[in-house]
Amino acid sequence: MQAEAQAPNPETTLRAMQAIVGENACLSGDADMQPFVTDYRGIYHGKAQVVVLPASTEEVSQVMQWCYANHVPVVPQGGNTSLMGGAVPDGTGAAVVINLRRMNRVLAIDTVNDTMTVQAGVTLSGARTAAEADQRLFPLRIGSEGSCQIGGNLSTNAGGTAVLRYGNMRDLVLGIEAVLPDGRIYSQLRGLRKDNTGYDLKHLFIGAEGTLGIITGAVLKLMPQPRSTAVAFVAVQSPAAAVQLLGEAKRLSGQAVTAFELISRPALELVLEYLGNVPSPLPEMHDWMVLIELTSGTDAESLNATLMEILESGFGQGLVLDAAVAASLSDAQNFWRIREEISDAQTRTGGSIKCDVSVPLSRIAAFVEDASAKVLALEPAARMVIYGHMGDGNVHFNPLRPRDQPAKEFLAQWYARISGLVDAMAHAENGSISAEHGIGVVKRDDLTQFKSSVEIELMWQVKQALDPRNLLNPGKVLPARRR
Ligand code: MLT
Ligand code: ZN
Repeated sequence: MQAEAQAPNPETTLRAMQAIVGENACLSGDADMQPFVTDYRGIYHGKAQVVVLPASTEEVSQVMQWCYANHVPVVPQGGNTSLMGGAVPDGTGAAVVINLRRMNRVLAIDTVNDTMTVQAGVTLSGARTAAEADQRLFPLRIGSEGSCQIGGNLSTNAGGTAVLRYGNMRDLVLGIEAVLPDGRIYSQLRGLRKDNTGYDLKHLFIGAEGTLGIITGAVLKLMPQPRSTAVAFVAVQSPAAAVQLLGEAKRLSGQAVTAFELISRPALELVLEYLGNVPSPLPEMHDWMVLIELTSGTDAESLNATLMEILESGFGQGLVLDAAVAASLSDAQNFWRIREEISDAQTRTGGSIKCDVSVPLSRIAAFVEDASAKVLALEPAARMVIYGHMGDGNVHFNPLRPRDQPAKEFLAQWYARISGLVDAMAHAENGSISAEHGIGVVKRDDLTQFKSSVEIELMWQVKQALDPRNLLNPGKVLPARRR
């Protein structure tokens, strides 16, 4: 199944797009298109015939109808913050990029139903702010919230730092509107918590990275805003001690554990160097730390007491070596800044070997220890930047070049071997090779190794049913079919 090789003349495509969305909503010069054909880290570069910025679902539908009739591939794009090259066109220049940034309206907030209806181009921070204005919480929390869009969050089933409490994006949506490859509109913008009327089709589009349809709108779940938050930066004895501490935190606080993020010493050292003026929360360096956040509907005093109880229990059992409890909002923000900037700190050093793996929580500590030992046996001077959502069994396991080795050389020497090794170890633990970053182009071909032929065949059958001409985000997610 291939897109037709012969793309229409770009002039023809441009005129057709202008007729649908208007001249000002079409970008065609190389300079204007550049930010839309390169990912935000500047790693993946492609080309496009034209970048289209539709203002409505109807316009998306018309663009898709034209592209379908003319066999033109389409790359849907939100904030272009994919780490996997999922929102960038390939190098052929055949594609039309549809960026949804102009569809950025919050359409309705229903405070009785606790739902919010948004267009897909609303940024995550826009959605969170709109919810806050009505004293509600939209709980998805990821570092790129200022630029990533709800449509992209859904298309990649985004995770982040509050999954432990609230779930992934898939858990936070009740209804979806999506435009199909041939321009038909699948419209289920409903805020129902119960609807057992057959296949729940919205889930096809969630996590499909724009290969089955273009999400244009969604009904999101809203939560009560927590009344209090307590945050601590805690040095722990080991990854296993961290997991035990999480157990204690759950036992002592009930539902209050919102985030439980692991940070290795090389990750902390790197981010502190990058930030420059932000002090380490703890006076001494330790090999392993966790950032714990509790939130609740109770008052701050009793939540802080619960946090202290957790830490005391941790000290008592030898799990905790030291702890800094945020005494103010600005302390808590500083702790979080340290955690959230680890990603960009790596980009600034020339990049690391990015592995985004998950295993059952019961296996995560052993996984981290074993995988670290295997990598260090290959390259003893690699810096083991390991951090992330330990409470979900998900770590970003990102070996970084030795200080005296150029990044290019390190990545050329080790990327394939080490990421292959780490992924295989996660897979052997019944884990995932992409816990929350998706597949895009980066992991596409690896799927043949880590998914069964039944799974891959089913993926292609679904693709064939919805996108028989393979026009929507071609080359992403689906690996070559086994014959
Ligand atoms: C994070 O948790 O910081 C994000 O998933 C981004 C990243 O790991 O690079
Ligand atoms: Zn993450």
